[in-house]
Amino acid sequence: MRRRSAERAGNEPARKAPEGTEEATAGEGAVVGAMAAVPWQAHLAELASTSLAGMSRRLPTLIGAAIRLAWRASRFDTVVTILLNLAAGVFTAYGLLATAGVLTALFAGGATPDRVRAALPSLALVAGAAALRSGLQAGAGWAQARLRPKVNRIVETRLFDLTTRVDLTAFDDTDFHDAMHRARQQGLYEASSVVQEAIDILTGLVGLTAAAGALGVLHPVLLPLLLLTAVPDGWAAARAARMRYLTIFTLSPVRRRKWVLADLMADRDSAAEIRAFTMRGFLGREHDRLATEECEVHVALARRQAVARVIGEIVGGVATGAVYVALGALLATGSVPLAVAGTAVLAIRTGKTSLASLLYAVNQCYESGLYFADYLDFCAEAEVRIPEGRHGPAPATFDVITAEDVWFTYPGADEPSLRGVSVRIHAGQVVALVGENGSGKTTLAKILAGLYRPDEGEVRWDGVRLSEVDLERLRENVAMIPQDYTHWPMTARHNIAMGRTPDDALIAEAARASGADEVIAPLSHGYGTLLDRRFKDGHELSGGQWQRIAVARGFYRDAPLLICDEPTAALDARAEHALFERIRGHADGRTVLLITHRLASVRHADQVYVLDHGRVIEEGPPAELLAAGGVFGELYDLQAQAYQLQTEQAGGPNPPR
Ligand SMILES: Nc1ncnc2c1ncn2[C@@H]1O[C@H](COP(=O)(O)OP(=O)(O)OP(=O)(O)O)[C@@H](O)[C@H]1O
Ligand SMILES: [Mg+2]
Repeated sequence: MRRRSAERAGNEPARKAPEGTEEATAGEGAVVGAMAAVPWQAHLAELASTSLAGMSRRLPTLIGAAIRLAWRASRFDTVVTILLNLAAGVFTAYGLLATAGVLTALFAGGATPDRVRAALPSLALVAGAAALRSGLQAGAGWAQARLRPKVNRIVETRLFDLTTRVDLTAFDDTDFHDAMHRARQQGLYEASSVVQEAIDILTGLVGLTAAAGALGVLHPVLLPLLLLTAVPDGWAAARAARMRYLTIFTLSPVRRRKWVLADLMADRDSAAEIRAFTMRGFLGREHDRLATEECEVHVALARRQAVARVIGEIVGGVATGAVYVALGALLATGSVPLAVAGTAVLAIRTGKTSLASLLYAVNQCYESGLYFADYLDFCAEAEVRIPEGRHGPAPATFDVITAEDVWFTYPGADEPSLRGVSVRIHAGQVVALVGENGSGKTTLAKILAGLYRPDEGEVRWDGVRLSEVDLERLRENVAMIPQDYTHWPMTARHNIAMGRTPDDALIAEAARASGADEVIAPLSHGYGTLLDRRFKDGHELSGGQWQRIAVARGFYRDAPLLICDEPTAALDARAEHALFERIRGHADGRTVLLITHRLASVRHADQVYVLDHGRVIEEGPPAELLAAGGVFGELYDLQAQAYQLQTEQAGGPNPPR
C-alpha cells in the first residue's frame, strides 16, 4: 500500500504513527491524525503562520472571489444588498450627529421644558434616522438572505459538474479523494458563508466609518481610542478560527475513514454482511477508536481556543477602561464639552459594535475562506484533471480497432497493469479476452472504450488515433456492460435507458435480449418500478436479476462496439446460454469484445487473446489455440474436466472440445 508522506500542520495535535507500524498504513487501523500533504495545498504552511495582518492581506482576494460569486448568483440581490447597507451607514452617522444636537440642547442653560422643547427637532431627526436605518438594514438583510441559496446552488452545480468530468484515473488517486472530501464536506457550504461574511464586512465597515466620521467631527483624539477597544477581541477570534481550521484539516483523513465506516454501519448493502460475519463489534470498535481520537483533538482545541478568547477579553476590557479614563481626562481638562463627551460615548459604543461585528465578519470570512479556498483549490485541481480538449471528430464506425503496444499503470501503482499489449478487433467479429484474475482484461477493455488513456502506445479506430479525438464523443459509440455495474436507484426504465431518452419499444427489445423482461414483468409498476428498497414502493432485485438489467443497458445503447466484461457471472445457466447465443449471433451486427471466464462460450469467438500479467501470451482463433495446447487449452481442459466428471457420474456424454 502506498504511504503518503506525513507532515505536521503547524503546531496542531497531529499524532504521527511510527513508521512501519500497523497504524502507519491506511489498512487496518487508519492513520489517525497523520497529515496527508497534498502538493497543491502548499498554502497550509502559510495559513498556519498567518497573523492578523497576514489575514487582512488575504482578505481582499477572498472578498473579490465572494463578490464575483454573488454577482454570478444574482446581480440584483448583490447590488441591492450593497446599496442598502451603504445607505444605512449614512443614516447611522446622521443619527449620531443629530444626537449631539439633542445633548447640546439638553445641556444648555435655561428651564428644563425650554431645553426639552429646543431638543425636539434634533430628537425627531434622531428618531427618523434610526427608523430609516432599520428599514434599510432589514431590506439589505432580506436581499442577503436571498443570495445564500442561490450561491449554494451554483457552487454545488460546479462541483458535481467537475466530479463527473475529471479523468477516471482521478478516482484512483487518494489525494484527489481527500481533496474532494474536504471540498464536499465543508468547502461547498462555506462558499455562501464567505459571500455572507464579505457583505457583513462591508456592513461593518460602513457602520464603523459612520461612527468614526461622527467621532472625527466631534474630536479627532476620539478616533484612535475607538480602535483600541476592539482589536484584542478580533485577535482572539482570528486565532481561534485558525486553530479550528488546522485541526479540521489535520483530521481530514481520519474523518473520511470514520465517514466510510459510519456509512458501512448504516447502509443497506452492507447490513447483511455485517450480521453474517458478526463484525458489528469490530466495526464499532474501529469507529469508536477514530471517534475517540477525533474527540480528544477537539477537546484540546476547545481548551486552547478558550485560552485565546479569555486573553482577548481581558486585554479588551483593560482597553475599554483606558478609553473611558481618557475621555474623563478630556472632559476634566475642558478639551471636550459635556454634550460632545456624551455623544462620543454613544458613538464609541456604536463604533465598537460595528468594529466588533466587522472583526467578527473578517474572522468568519477568513475562516470560511480557508474552507472556501479548499473548494476553489479542488475546482482548480479538478480542472487540470479534465481530459484535454482534443476536438478531433470521434469516428462513428470502424473496420478495425487496433491497440498497439499499449502500456498502462494506475496512478500510484508500482507495477504496470498492461505491458505492451497489441490487439486487433475487426468489425463484426466477436473477440474474446481471457486470462486469470488480475491479468489486465478489464483495464484493456476500459482503454479500448476510451475510459483511460494509455501511458504509451496507441489505440486507433481505423486510421484515427484515440489520443486525438474527443473521448466523450467516442464513448457515445461504445456500449459497455462493466464488470462492476452500478445498481442505479432509479426506475427499471431509466436503469436500462441510462440517461438517454427512454424509447419503450427499444427498452422492451433490449430487456428481451438480456432476459430482463422476465425480471421486470412481475414488478408492481413494470418498467416504472423504482429499483431501490430504501424508497417507498421501491423493489429489490437479486444479483442475477440485476445483471440482466445491466446487460439490457448494453444492448439498449445503439453502438457499433459492445464490450461485455463478465456479463454472465451472476446469471443462471439458461440466461447465460441465451446471452452467449445472442453474442454468438454477433449481437445484432455489432462487434463484440467479450471478457469471460466461461471458456466453453469462448469457443465460438472469432479471435481470442489470452492475457497474463498485463501481456498477451496467446492469440488466435479458439480452435487453433486449443490445438496448440497452450495456456488457453490448459484452462479450457480444467473447466471441461469438471463437467466431464459430472457427466461421467451422471452417465452422460462428454462435452465436445
Ligand atoms: N483502480 C485501480 N488502481 C490500481 N490498480 C488497479 C486498479 N484496477 C485494477 N488494478 C490492478 O490492475 C491489474 C489488472 O486488473 P484488471 O481489473 O484489469 O484485471 P482483470 O483481468 O480484469 O481481472 P478479473 O478477472 O479479476 O476481472 C490488477 O493487478 C489490479 O490489481
Ligand atoms: Mg476484470
